[in-house]
Amino acid sequence: MRGDGRHPQAGVVRGTNPYLPLPARIHKVVEENALVKSFVLELEDPLAAQAFTYQPGQFVMVSVPHCGEAPISFASPPHQANGFTLTVRKAGRLTGAMHGLRPGDTVGIRGPYGRPFPMHALQGRDLLFVAGGIGLAPLRSVILSVLAHRADYGRIIVLYGCRTPGDICFRADLAVWQEIEGVEVGCTVDKGDAGWQGKVGLVTSLLDTVVFAPERTTALVCGPEIMIKVVLERLEGMGVAPADLLTTLERHMKCGIGLCGHCHCSDKLVCADGPVFSLAELGGIASGCL
Ligand SMILES: Cc1cc2nc3c(=O)[nH]c(=O)nc-3n(C[C@H](O)[C@H](O)[C@H](O)COP(=O)(O)OP(=O)(O)OC[C@H]3O[C@@H](n4cnc5c(N)ncnc54)[C@H](O)[C@@H]3O)c2cc1C
Ligand code: FES
Repeated sequence: MRGDGRHPQAGVVRGTNPYLPLPARIHKVVEENALVKSFVLELEDPLAAQAFTYQPGQFVMVSVPHCGEAPISFASPPHQANGFTLTVRKAGRLTGAMHGLRPGDTVGIRGPYGRPFPMHALQGRDLLFVAGGIGLAPLRSVILSVLAHRADYGRIIVLYGCRTPGDICFRADLAVWQEIEGVEVGCTVDKGDAGWQGKVGLVTSLLDTVVFAPERTTALVCGPEIMIKVVLERLEGMGVAPADLLTTLERHMKCGIGLCGHCHCSDKLVCADGPVFSLAELGGIASGCL
């Protein structure tokens, strides 16, 4: 452990090279939309696969030979059988290469890394999930974990916003969730198309449509940084305490384990201190991290 109390190499077996990825084989590829694919993967080494555990909100560093490495969050819940799911938006070199991969191909995996969502502290609370675009991926890991232990949580509200209908991810999950008693799902797009019959407007407009008790509610917000900022500001104004406003931050990362300082934001390292933070931990909206 470092002098400041952080575990910089969480998930890495002591004494091994922390930068050495383990090969993981792709079992399944699901096309979420034109730019987003979900990959179901499993570590090739059976012992490593068996020992591989993670929590919602954590991430892995994924690599493809000659195409670099990038942090990707778990989109699956820890109890998922047969490996784990990563949902990847085609953004650049690594993610572009991943989009060319098929079942049977392998990628390199380091991790899991990062501080997860405080699942224990969420028990007994009403949960308000607010997601934008691919930001639903890490929240899906939480939502599916919560649904697996439904009685431990209060109301579940999922508000999801995308730029266009073509940007929506996890359509099958959304359809299932909205049929579950005690789960409310709202979906909106910034700009509709000829086939879209749902709501049109920013995700914040959905906040006007739900009634919730701020003192009983923990909000989990993930999406583009500007959306996170606006939603947190709004929820704080609606009376949710900063300690109950949780989000995940994105920064460009190199090591992923608290060593290089590449991902710093104010006095925090997003890879080791986060990526999950409460608004209270960030020091409020004006802290400069959002
Ligand atoms: C904790 C965490 C979890 C994440 N989870 C996911 C996830 O689940 N799914 C997902 O799709 N993405 C996720 N991301 C984002 C993903 O890691 C980035 O999009 C990553 O940059 C993609 O790598 P790439 O090589 O494909 O693209 P890059 O080549 O890195 O390019 C991506 C974009 O970033 C720009 N860019 C590159 N380097 C820099 C730099 N140094 N400074 C500023 N801009 C730069 C490029 O111009 C381009 O627009 C996550 C990020 C973090 C930090
Ligand atoms: S990526 Fe190196 S310290 Fe966070």
